[in-house]
Amino acid sequence: MTIHIGAAPGQIAETVLMPGDPYRARWAAQTFLDDAILVNEVRGMLGYTGTWKGNRVTIQGSGMGMPSLSIYANELIRDFGAQTLIRIGSCGGMQAEVNLRDVVLALTASSLSTPSSGIFRDLNFAPAANYNLLRAAAIAATDRGVKTHVGGIYSTDVFYDERPDLTEQMTRHGILAVEMETAELYTLAARHRRRALAVLTVSDHLQTGEELPSEERERSFGDMVEIALEAAFA
Ligand code: HPA
Repeated sequence: MTIHIGAAPGQIAETVLMPGDPYRARWAAQTFLDDAILVNEVRGMLGYTGTWKGNRVTIQGSGMGMPSLSIYANELIRDFGAQTLIRIGSCGGMQAEVNLRDVVLALTASSLSTPSSGIFRDLNFAPAANYNLLRAAAIAATDRGVKTHVGGIYSTDVFYDERPDLTEQMTRHGILAVEMETAELYTLAARHRRRALAVLTVSDHLQTGEELPSEERERSFGDMVEIALEAAFA
């Protein structure tokens, strides 16, 4: 047990999927895992462990934003021995060709800062995905017929962002989408020599203002879970 994860030793699998929303963790575990058991409910941040095609998997909510994800990822890595951590979540499209429902695989994650920034001082560390996971996810997504983009994303601390100039510069530099967790996940994975990837679905678009209706979010979320699972065990 850790401060934020009530699982007993051995109850967390080496492969962990991390949706932001704890209810998504429950839905994904009930939908895709066999013999899923609840292993964490501290603060309502649900976590389940079960098997997928015979492989042990934990699906643990991360909460929203890098400070929250950092707490769960740190404890999963340092106390429970997680080796492969895959974020599954939504993002806002930032390029004209990145449409609602498309999948974005985050090759890199730019940010203004992360909870880890203090240790880098003036260095601009470049948080990046694990290549093997990324390649396997790209193949799995293409095989499913899901339109997929691989490239840089932007991890922000501010959902209601009042800095249009910054978004504009990110867009000008080819950043595909914005979300709020990946830069810290990739940084922690690098520090502890673990594998990490973010598989994201475009749920809204910054330039067009479009949003995915809530019924459709579940279906696209299911695609992400399966892409993440196939990548983890490729
Ligand atoms: N901004 C930040 N995070 C997000 C967004 C967004 O537009 N959509 C999904 N996650």
